[in-house]
Amino acid sequence: MNKYTIILFGATGNLAKRKLIPSLYSLLRHNKDLDFLIIGAAKDKNNTSDILKKAKEHLIEYDEVSWKNFEKKFYYKQLDFENLQDYISLEKFVSKLEKSPKRIIYLSAPTDFFCGITQNLADSKIAIKNADHRIAYEKPFGWDLKSCKEINKCIKKNFSESQIFRIDHYLTKAIVTNISIIRFVNTIFEPTWNNKYIDHIEISLSETIGIENRGKFYDKYGALKDVFQNHILQILSLITIDKPKTDTQKDFAKEKLKIFKKLVIKDGILGQYDGYKNESDVSKNSKTETYVFLKAHINTKRWNGVNFYLTTGKKLSQQKALAKIVYKADKYHPNVLTIAISPDSGFILQLNAQKSDDKKIFPISMDFCYRCLLGPDSPHSYEVLLKEIIDNNHNISVSSDVIEQAWKIIEKIKKMKLPLVIYKPNTQGPRLKETEII
Ligand code: BG6
Repeated sequence: MNKYTIILFGATGNLAKRKLIPSLYSLLRHNKDLDFLIIGAAKDKNNTSDILKKAKEHLIEYDEVSWKNFEKKFYYKQLDFENLQDYISLEKFVSKLEKSPKRIIYLSAPTDFFCGITQNLADSKIAIKNADHRIAYEKPFGWDLKSCKEINKCIKKNFSESQIFRIDHYLTKAIVTNISIIRFVNTIFEPTWNNKYIDHIEISLSETIGIENRGKFYDKYGALKDVFQNHILQILSLITIDKPKTDTQKDFAKEKLKIFKKLVIKDGILGQYDGYKNESDVSKNSKTETYVFLKAHINTKRWNGVNFYLTTGKKLSQQKALAKIVYKADKYHPNVLTIAISPDSGFILQLNAQKSDDKKIFPISMDFCYRCLLGPDSPHSYEVLLKEIIDNNHNISVSSDVIEQAWKIIEKIKKMKLPLVIYKPNTQGPRLKETEII
């Protein structure tokens, strides 16, 4: 039996309730060789049954026996993130209960506390350098370059990089993990994966939902920091990097860094959905963007001259995350490789074919639907993510230098002072004129 103690900071928060606790339950249900002791920690007085009741509403699958069993493994301890004494008593509590030296400490806490929590974890010995104690930091990792660097410094002072996971849950989505496979395991794409053949690339993560009671957080961050800095840039990097020497996180990070350093934002437009200012915990004269549309270039030999259109936004007409690689075409329809991330995941390749009677050339598509061929693509991304931490697979984690470079890109965009326009909910959001978007 593979036993772990999971210490969940922020156990009373939204992410814990909606994703982390349900995913821990699914993990146990699907992996009979795993066993957890889960200790939730947060500042609220909340009790265990309250937390579990709320999380239960978000389970994808459920059976009473396994849920009852799960409930028995879950404990809660009230803790002030800034109070070392609370950590010391948490450590005592954990060591009395735990049956394994393996600890996973998941910080689903506000990023402002990351440095302090890291230090307190070390000082209380909840996490010990080079022990089998892994620490996962939920995004956002900082709120700008300076804060991100400070957190990285706190980590470096107390722990080894091999103990650290900087989470981006998009890196665990079935099709996102397949981008490198499609590109580097097959031989047909790499020769044409460049500016000689590709006209432009679109990456879009659009959502129909609004900010869902996250006003306090969202109004400080906005779409650039909430989604663009991490999910969009990570997808972009996987599509554009050169083949890493090996499939380790270290070699992937080297290539991602090269791309981020050469990424130039040429133009863009920001948007805010009509009604955003009336959301709770949002300032009445907020200038926070809920939508981003950017045109970018990557100044490398492979990508010179190719336009990248990068979009994300809330309250749009469609719920979808995808990328389109649009090939050059003169006479006929362009070949397009669509990387569909969600809700349906797969690869769709648009080609041209001919009808034999009238000899007309028309576009056809070759589809790989993940679900149809391989079964459901969820386990939920948080279930995959927790499993990867258990398996010590760092490919789902963003390295310190890559995450700092991503913040540098945000700082440059902020300096551009892009226009902010109000858009109507349930529309596609504002776009720059003269884009080739299809
Ligand atoms: C999160 C953002 O990281 O990703 C949310 O904070 C966003 O604002 C979410 O809604 C989108 O993720 P998914 O997996 O639902 O597409």
